[in-house]
Amino acid sequence: MGHVLVTGATGGIGTALVGALTAAGHQVTAVGRDVGRLGVRGIEADLADPETLAGAGEWGEVQALVHCAGISPVEAVADAGPETWRRTMAVNVASAAELVRLTLPALRRSRGHVIFVNASAGLTGVPRWSAFVASKAALRELADSLREEEAAHGIRVTTVYPGATATDLLGEVRSAFGRPYDPEACIRPRTLAEMIVWVLSAPADSYPCELSVLPSPR
Ligand SMILES: NC(=O)c1ccc[n+]([C@@H]2O[C@H](COP(=O)([O-])OP(=O)(O)OC[C@H]3O[C@@H](n4cnc5c(N)ncnc54)[C@H](OP(=O)(O)O)[C@@H]3O)[C@@H](O)[C@H]2O)c1
Repeated sequence: MGHVLVTGATGGIGTALVGALTAAGHQVTAVGRDVGRLGVRGIEADLADPETLAGAGEWGEVQALVHCAGISPVEAVADAGPETWRRTMAVNVASAAELVRLTLPALRRSRGHVIFVNASAGLTGVPRWSAFVASKAALRELADSLREEEAAHGIRVTTVYPGATATDLLGEVRSAFGRPYDPEACIRPRTLAEMIVWVLSAPADSYPCELSVLPSPR
């Protein structure tokens, strides 16, 4: 149990995560837009502008950082302008790297845990989703590099790869792709949240560095 920074805390998965972390006895600070309404400590920040994070607030002692914020534009390369690319890479990857950088002294002191919420394992080369899949590939590489870099300081780094999870975002993405969306066939956000809390509770000698989660067959 400890102090956990959570991005994306206002989202479908993030809201469930804040609930699950709090229920497990963790102290949560939500980092993002409009986080004042969540009932936990909040640090206001627009992750589309990672350069503003340094002045966003006091991080304090940090045992874990869970980067769950993400945007998922559905646009062909032919249509996606530089702002789509800038924003997607900023929210999905660069803000995660910057938050790690800013909290690294605290994470090293606590021999803490960094968790990046990625996307379905093996998601690659998806037409009309290039900015999203590129950002998640970059997030995976960030995790793998960071794990090696910080192993000497005892920091654990986990990538979580969720399959379809019942949130508004998934509904919007499925609609943009013209695909059906049945929330009942998806992972429940609360279930995924509890798995992330479980990752944080791994014993001292070992931990899951990757966790791929699928909806159970029906
Ligand atoms: N749902 C799925 O099926 C699924 C599957 C695989 C992976 N994931 C990943 O899981 C994560 C959460 O997804 P979700 O389904 O819970 O999505 P969601 O409900 O849309 O939540 C997205 C979160 O990201 C935050 N965010 C977006 N832009 C931001 C910005 N500029 N500054 C600060 N925060 C920002 C949102 O905050 P605001 O409230 O301020 O917009 C929200 O809290 C994402 O990384 C997504 O790629 C989801």
